[in-house]
Amino acid sequence: MTAPLRSGDPIVVNVALGDRAYDIVIGRGLIASLGERIAKLRPGSKAAIVTDETVARHHLAVAEDSLKSAGIAVASVKVPAGESSKSFRMLERVCDELLAARIERGDLVVALGGGVVGDLGGFAASLIRRGVDYVQVPTSLLAQVDSSVGGKTAINSRQGKNLVGAFYQPILVVADTALLDTLPEREFRAGYAEVVKYGLLGDANFFEWLDVNWRDVFAGGPSREHAIAVSCRAKAAIVARDERETGDRMLLNLGHTFGHAFEAAAGFSDKLLHGEAVGLGMAMAFEFSARRGLIPKAAADRVIAHLAAAGLPTHVKAVRGGNWPTLDAMMDLISQDKKVQRGRLTFILVRGIGQAFVTRDVDAGEVRAFIAEKLNSRS
Ligand SMILES: NC(=O)c1ccc[n+]([C@@H]2O[C@H](COP(=O)([O-])OP(=O)(O)OC[C@H]3O[C@@H](n4cnc5c(N)ncnc54)[C@H](O)[C@@H]3O)[C@@H](O)[C@H]2O)c1
Ligand SMILES: [Zn+2]
Repeated sequence: MTAPLRSGDPIVVNVALGDRAYDIVIGRGLIASLGERIAKLRPGSKAAIVTDETVARHHLAVAEDSLKSAGIAVASVKVPAGESSKSFRMLERVCDELLAARIERGDLVVALGGGVVGDLGGFAASLIRRGVDYVQVPTSLLAQVDSSVGGKTAINSRQGKNLVGAFYQPILVVADTALLDTLPEREFRAGYAEVVKYGLLGDANFFEWLDVNWRDVFAGGPSREHAIAVSCRAKAAIVARDERETGDRMLLNLGHTFGHAFEAAAGFSDKLLHGEAVGLGMAMAFEFSARRGLIPKAAADRVIAHLAAAGLPTHVKAVRGGNWPTLDAMMDLISQDKKVQRGRLTFILVRGIGQAFVTRDVDAGEVRAFIAEKLNSRS
């Protein structure tokens, strides 16, 4: 998954949130200019990089050098890689270390990593000294197209994932697409599910383009920057309309209600990564929409064929290992999903490729029959 560095102008996507507006800068090799970009935005500031141990091994030195050569004093805080770092314990440690590094109002936190580091580092930035600025430097595909955009930050609690957090926007996002060359292929593929999602939920042309160019996105060709930019533009537009998810932002949950149930059933483990669950969930959302007569079956089949070609699971059978829970337990997981409002199931369904909509008009019995069929077809 390695391609030569390309020069050429980076792509800039603005997130239009009034006086909290910021740019997402996308390009291959951009990390070299990180320090310069930060120095321009906040002259004279210090910075602390929050990262995880795996990302640190690959990319921390380059990020530190870039900051230092722009005259920015830099400290680093490392946490273990993985979801378990989104905890109260690790949040406390990160806050303490940021304060020990004398990060003050006017200084910066730089979150260098995947969604875990972005969520944890961003949340810590929102808390210390009642909020200091932060910059996202996403290093996974999922983080470049999803978690670094839109200002949701959180940790997990005993009660569930992402239940303790804040809406807190960064002042800049620098997405260096070359950093993805060191990302394990399975993680890349999982992130790709969120890329396809933007096509499926609101942009049929983008889906058509991906159907032709997805291999170049994976290989690190010029299509990678384009795919990331289109994804960021799509999310930025939705976030600008609905920052706090009271309406349109819910469309971003396409594939997530079904997906989340399977992800939870797999215990949020390696058995099924988030993006893989989203791939499966989107396949199910299209199939379910076809079954309700909202779209022709051929449209669902096309989507499923694309997801499968890219190596994402589209069928429960494809999920490795597993004692799947009973139908009742699965229905519980679906109705406990945070997308439930006042006891009604909220689903994102489709009227076509690129035409997702939010509905609360889904009969629980119908969903139950659909899930039963999926669970029964496992073997
Ligand atoms: N804030 C939001 O809006 C939002 C949206 C979606 C997901 N999320 C959160 O994002 C998290 C998932 O993000 P993720 O998939 O990036 O997980 P992650 O941060 O755990 O990264 C996945 C793995 O890849 C490694 N990695 C990351 N970049 C690498 C690189 N360039 N080279 C080599 N290894 C690298 C990490 O160390 C980790 O082991 C979840 O906690 C989820 O809740 C947040
Ligand atoms: Zn997702």
